[in-house]
Amino acid sequence: MNILFATPECAPYVKTGGLGDVSGALPAALAALGHDVRVLLPAYKGMKVAGDIGEGIEIPAYGHWPAAQLLPVRVSSGVTMLLLACPSLYQRDGGPYVDANGRDYEDNVVRFGLLSRVAADLGTRDSPIPGWRADVVHANDWPTALAPMNLARARMGDPQHHVAASVVTIHNMAFQGVFPMHDAEMLGVPHHWRGIDGVEFWGQLSMLKAGLQFAQAITTVSPTYAREIQTPEFGAGLDGVLRARADRLSGILNGIDDQVWNPAHDTQLLHPYTVTDLAGKARNKAALQKQLGLKVSAKAMLFGVVSRLTPQKGIDLVLQHLDALLADGGQLVVLGMGEPGLQEALVDAAQRTPKQVHVTVGFNEQLAHRIEAGADCFLMPSRFEPCGLNQMYSQAYGTPPLVAPTGGLADSVVDATADARNGSGFVMREPGASGFAEAVARARQAFADTAAWRRIQANGMARPFGWAASAARYVEVYERAVALAR
Ligand code: ADP
Ligand code: GLC
Repeated sequence: MNILFATPECAPYVKTGGLGDVSGALPAALAALGHDVRVLLPAYKGMKVAGDIGEGIEIPAYGHWPAAQLLPVRVSSGVTMLLLACPSLYQRDGGPYVDANGRDYEDNVVRFGLLSRVAADLGTRDSPIPGWRADVVHANDWPTALAPMNLARARMGDPQHHVAASVVTIHNMAFQGVFPMHDAEMLGVPHHWRGIDGVEFWGQLSMLKAGLQFAQAITTVSPTYAREIQTPEFGAGLDGVLRARADRLSGILNGIDDQVWNPAHDTQLLHPYTVTDLAGKARNKAALQKQLGLKVSAKAMLFGVVSRLTPQKGIDLVLQHLDALLADGGQLVVLGMGEPGLQEALVDAAQRTPKQVHVTVGFNEQLAHRIEAGADCFLMPSRFEPCGLNQMYSQAYGTPPLVAPTGGLADSVVDATADARNGSGFVMREPGASGFAEAVARARQAFADTAAWRRIQANGMARPFGWAASAARYVEVYERAVALAR
């Protein structure tokens, strides 16, 4: 199958969160199954992609969009990166979505309207790549979610059906790409699709809704989240649309890239280790404590957090229960960035108790790996979590996670109290403060029992979190989508 994987971020080139990791690993796993996979990604400022560079392909100016270029680069994983170069839209200081001050770029509708349009073009007779057309266009999150609508429009004009099927994956319902309805003109949304059965969302235009309405298949990144988003509590206003399309919606748990996230050969670690020899893990812990100015102590229970600092992630619970975490010499290491209020509260805590709390504000790949390896227990008390990757990384690193009972967290962590034989972490019995406090108490108790703790670590390290199984599930979804598009 010819697969076009469209995404606004892709590790290791550009990453703000889990979508970057997924985009870096899933296409490679699909290529390993024998498919021709091309990843469409904007060419952001300073991005370097090593590989065999093909000839650039001109994308002519169109409507509000300036001329652009598609630069194919064949990378070592067997995937072809298609870098969408349009300097006036993508070569900027700041991140993929926000400027250097953290504000959304004002022209995001133009930037990601172009990305969605080019993604769809690659699935039509007018594909800009000579001799190559996608059989399926896989859109990821709102920045690419107009592609299914563009393809539906192309299908109307192509009765021979030389048009790709489309699949949209929801990585997070909290981000929807909502813009004024007058942008519909520029985006080429036909008049009859501007209403509630089309892209309309409370009088505005929702890019994510366009994807949900027009794709042949909708996936999200865990089975539990697939159920949750059909309820008003988690649906972020689109639960009705998802219920109406429930027969097209499925949940496929993300995998992890076990080349990048593997303690046995993680190049970011000072001391690689395996389940049969955890001495390296102890050395990583001591090195981390030293590096961050904490008291170097094997006995102190070290809690780790690596996270975007947003209300989603439940970091307020960590702050609220700091005393419980720091009891008996406990320690807390946080790496994250996001909401100024949360950042300040965390930095305050670190200033009050520098030997027990360390906070790094920023994005730091190496420190993220070192926290996964050096911490004893990883905290993820998220209010909602479509999948979550860190709870899987931490299990692979022998760092049992403490998680909320939601989304992909519930689907990927086996509670050690409920299932003493297979337990690999601690699942809060209920969301919120009391559930968190109770789970912290259970984790502390287990940590005090070295044999029990070793078993929980070993169970997590033995779990198969690679991408192979989930990649095969995506192929099934693609095949169904292609059949439905005929
Ligand atoms: P989300 O996508 O909602 O942020 P995930 O758990 O799916 O959550 O993925 C987060 C990814 O981003 C992980 O790879 C994590 O290590 C990484 N990450 C998050 N914050 C930081 C940070 N401040 N520095 C380095 N890596 C980070
Ligand atoms: C989103 C979600 C996260 C998920 C990631 C990759 O950012 O918040 O839970 O793991 O996408 O799918």
